[in-house]
Amino acid sequence: MEKKVVLITGASSGIGLDTARLLAQNGFTVYGAARRTEPLRELQPLGVKSLRMDVTDDESIRNALNTLIAAEGRIDILINNAGYGSFGAIEEVPIEEAERQLQVNVFGAMRLIQLVLPFMRSQGAGRIINTSSIAGRFAMYFGGWYNASKYAMEGLSDALRMELKPFGIDVVLIEPGGIKTDWGIIAANHLRTSCQDTPYQAEATRCANTLEKGYSGNFLSNPKVVAKTMLRACTARHPRARYRCGRGSTILVLLHTLLPARCFDRLVTHSL
Ligand SMILES: NC(=O)c1ccc[n+]([C@@H]2O[C@H](COP(=O)([O-])OP(=O)(O)OC[C@H]3O[C@@H](n4cnc5c(N)ncnc54)[C@H](OP(=O)(O)O)[C@@H]3O)[C@@H](O)[C@H]2O)c1
Repeated sequence: MEKKVVLITGASSGIGLDTARLLAQNGFTVYGAARRTEPLRELQPLGVKSLRMDVTDDESIRNALNTLIAAEGRIDILINNAGYGSFGAIEEVPIEEAERQLQVNVFGAMRLIQLVLPFMRSQGAGRIINTSSIAGRFAMYFGGWYNASKYAMEGLSDALRMELKPFGIDVVLIEPGGIKTDWGIIAANHLRTSCQDTPYQAEATRCANTLEKGYSGNFLSNPKVVAKTMLRACTARHPRARYRCGRGSTILVLLHTLLPARCFDRLVTHSL
């Protein structure tokens, strides 16, 4: 049987790196894309090919996709995984940074989708897997712009799923909870920087410290947990619309549905 061709963004670290590895070990032809390609060298023995791509740069997206299509002639699965958490008080995050958050987490993914769809349609099949988060289901303390990006990912993916059904193209959302990667340290740095010398500084510093402690400890799930979920989403004959994964993710989404809003707010503000 022909190997399925997968393109995964954000493949240079964390969830993307582990997913690229697991997919290659399971017989997929994997192209890993990121701005830094050096970390992908460790996956070369498994046959993973690296593509330099900045998802905020249209030309870089086109070049990477052209390279893949020239070599393989097809693309079966696109995994939009590149992303970061621009944490900070909504009042204090510079609007340019808020735009960048949406450029990376939302518009980059949607641009790639626009470019791969003609290929998938002509193949009569394809699968798009978008990395959302439990932050696409409820708001996080000081996570407003990140939440906006993941809520957008949820809405766009739900709409896409209906639009693409007639063409045999599946759309799947992955909703991880807290996963031990660089993500938390990057989010904590953004939070500290954006709230420095503002009325939010004390509270933001407390939260940034908690974030950093959480992401440096051993409580959070390993990115391999998400990689396994991605593999399920890639191989399922009829994939689900959503896969949630990671310790505590399901209970938190359930509590958000069941608890009164202000009660859930208290839970979120006190846990960060
Ligand atoms: N960790 C968590 O707790 C968690 C929970 C829920 C959802 N998520 C989501 O999971 C995804 C992966 O995050 P992670 O936890 O694995 O974090 P990570 O280890 O920091 O990885 C983020 C990846 O995104 C890439 N990236 C960032 N900006 C980019 C850009 N402009 N162009 C291309 N690639 C870019 C990075 O590569 P380069 O810097 O090399 O470009 C890196 O490979 C993100 O969408 C994140 O929001 C994470």
